[in-house]
Amino acid sequence: MTKKPTPSFYLCDKEIRIFDPQERRYEVPLNVHKPSRLTDISDCDYTVSYVKEPFGLIVRRKSTNTIIFNSAKAAPLIFADQYIQIGTVLASKYLYGLGEHQDKFLIDINWTSRGFWARDQAPRVNTNLYGVHPFYMNIDKHGNAYGVFLLNSNAMQVDFQPLPALTYRTMGGVLDFYIFTGPSPIDVIQQYTELIGRPYFPPYWALGFHLCRWGYENSRNLKEVIKRMRDSKIPYDVQWNDIDYMDRHLDWTYNTKNFAELPEIVEDLHAHGQHYIMIVDPGISNQQREGTYPPYDKGLKEGIFITDSKGGKPIVGRVWPGDTVFPDFFHPKAFSYWHDLAEKFHKQIPFDGLWVDMNEPSNFVSGSEDGCLYNSLNYPPFSSPAILGSKLFEQTLCPSAHQNLSSHYNLHNMYGYSETKITAMSLEKILRKRTLVISRSTFPGSGVYGGHWSGDNHANWDHLYYSIPEILNFQLFGIPMVGSDVCGFAGPTNAELCTRWTQLGAFYPFMRNHNNLHMPDQDPAVFDEHIQNAMRQVLLIRYSLLPYLYTLFYNSHINGTPVLWPLFFLEPNEETFTIDQQFLWGNGLMISPVVRPSTFEVKAYFPEGSWYDFYTGTKIGSTGLYMILDAPWDKINLHVRGGTILPIIEPDVTTTASRKKKFGLFVAPDTQGKSKGELFWDDGVSLDSIKSGKFTHLIFMATEQNVTSQVLRSGYTLAAGMYLGHAIICGVQKCPSHATANGKPVKFQCESTSQV
Ligand code: GLC
Repeated sequence: MTKKPTPSFYLCDKEIRIFDPQERRYEVPLNVHKPSRLTDISDCDYTVSYVKEPFGLIVRRKSTNTIIFNSAKAAPLIFADQYIQIGTVLASKYLYGLGEHQDKFLIDINWTSRGFWARDQAPRVNTNLYGVHPFYMNIDKHGNAYGVFLLNSNAMQVDFQPLPALTYRTMGGVLDFYIFTGPSPIDVIQQYTELIGRPYFPPYWALGFHLCRWGYENSRNLKEVIKRMRDSKIPYDVQWNDIDYMDRHLDWTYNTKNFAELPEIVEDLHAHGQHYIMIVDPGISNQQREGTYPPYDKGLKEGIFITDSKGGKPIVGRVWPGDTVFPDFFHPKAFSYWHDLAEKFHKQIPFDGLWVDMNEPSNFVSGSEDGCLYNSLNYPPFSSPAILGSKLFEQTLCPSAHQNLSSHYNLHNMYGYSETKITAMSLEKILRKRTLVISRSTFPGSGVYGGHWSGDNHANWDHLYYSIPEILNFQLFGIPMVGSDVCGFAGPTNAELCTRWTQLGAFYPFMRNHNNLHMPDQDPAVFDEHIQNAMRQVLLIRYSLLPYLYTLFYNSHINGTPVLWPLFFLEPNEETFTIDQQFLWGNGLMISPVVRPSTFEVKAYFPEGSWYDFYTGTKIGSTGLYMILDAPWDKINLHVRGGTILPIIEPDVTTTASRKKKFGLFVAPDTQGKSKGELFWDDGVSLDSIKSGKFTHLIFMATEQNVTSQVLRSGYTLAAGMYLGHAIICGVQKCPSHATANGKPVKFQCESTSQV
């Protein structure tokens, strides 16, 4: 705290760094893809200037003269060893991102604060949660978006003020800012994910319905659930197991008594075209007899575990199995260590993906079984009131613990990221196929390797609603594969809540119903017939739309376009900036769920243009207005944007079965009668389908007279062929006398009232 280095900075395209030129400080071990060519900055739509006293950096968008970064106004720059402060004005109060927090999508900047320190904390407002994402998007008064990413992994606080402005107070590292000038929100996310890495491409089956709970207890119960789900004919692709499959909660073991039949159950899932995912926690028990538990013996031998000090003993915390030590996933041998354990276990239980939980890392004792030393890392000079408990070691390891690259103090927020990366790389090598890794703790770059779920939500209406801002924020964070526990994790759910949640969850990119220990079952098949019908209906809709969702994921992987959009991505205005109870799949399908109990109407905003009811094809013309929509208990409102062609497929009880069926098109013309769409298709699992060109990519175009397709690539050819079974064409003003497909007459129906 004593030294006062002179800040120096250099500009590299869109990067601004403020660091100590005299002494090398900790920097985030994330391989960001900096722009390869140094753009001549005079070509860019921004200028950078700085003032010496008081020091300030100013970035201005040239075309509109908007200031998008100005550190001279909000708070003075302070650069101390464990406290770096910098503020910037914002172009407007329309601010998004900066997570992981439970809140509305639009950040309230009226003298509020947010803390950033990964923490095992069931979602609630005003608290730092599982992941850390120091990235925001701001929209100026011209409707232009820009993004700011502070590449810093230290504990942090961000304070907001209505100027509008914000101030970062980070407890270490350097100031390494990346500014993305957009100008559209989509551009900003594409630019950000170009830097941190494009989202991974999930296998097709991962977009199906996932079912989990804590407390299946034994193979008999698990088999019963699988059977009742199959009997109910509710679409269902992936069965999960929580920690109860393990032998005494030990990683990489299974309980050969209670879950003796687990290997056969997994084989049976596979035989039914289904998949299986199991949980693995980072904490490795150190309490087993020497020579009986390789995860510990091997890790100890290789020096994999985080130690209490440099070269010291592994730091001991406590998680589900009792006392545990923690692998350092940044250790150079972490990959071979973790991969070998996973590979060996996979020979026993052929899982298809892994769920990495408790990786903040969570610890049931503060710091360690021996507490934490009194030093400046465990008790830093600045204790942030925005970080729950204010003590960094609460519910986790001592910050002074030693990791291979640096102290846990510096790397804590990246623990989940490092585990996700090593786990995904291990699985790819073992399976030689695309997989699914779902992580609770995340950091920028996590999306390159897997997805996220929002942790231990509550079975209540508030948490149903908050899941929407959560999944929208993770689109900004480059982790589009995201969802919340459908029907709620903690506390008992009820039929109404669970039905509405299944309707909303059917439009999460990652859809999993998960439940807490001792709670009544909440899988769709336990409900009565009416409820099951409603749940089945919405799941069939999801499954029919998966070709569209899959194509959105393909685009997100290729160019970073988010899968889910808030309405303002389509139409930025004062109205849409605050909307977070509706959202879109890409720019084509609008979802307007019910988020309150005993509610059978939805007040939905329709951006300007034509919209078509997904169920009836009826057109709604909008100039940008609200409408009251009927929302009976068994229906979620869905509208297709005029101008879109959605590729769809005949649904079935699994994606495996559905993928063998015929495709369809939902054609929704714009006000000029035109529309377009696309389909990406491959075998759904190969690691190299894009690289080696084993995919088919079609573009669809429609005018008032016809729908045509253009084959951009036809590298994936099914033995059985890909067939178009039907097309639903909306907005047909006059019913035609005949219709042809590829020149031959085809059967058709025309409804003159709905114009379909
Ligand atoms: C954590 C997870 C939760 C899981 C439980 C038991 O609380 O967030 O999803 O069920 O641990 O493993």
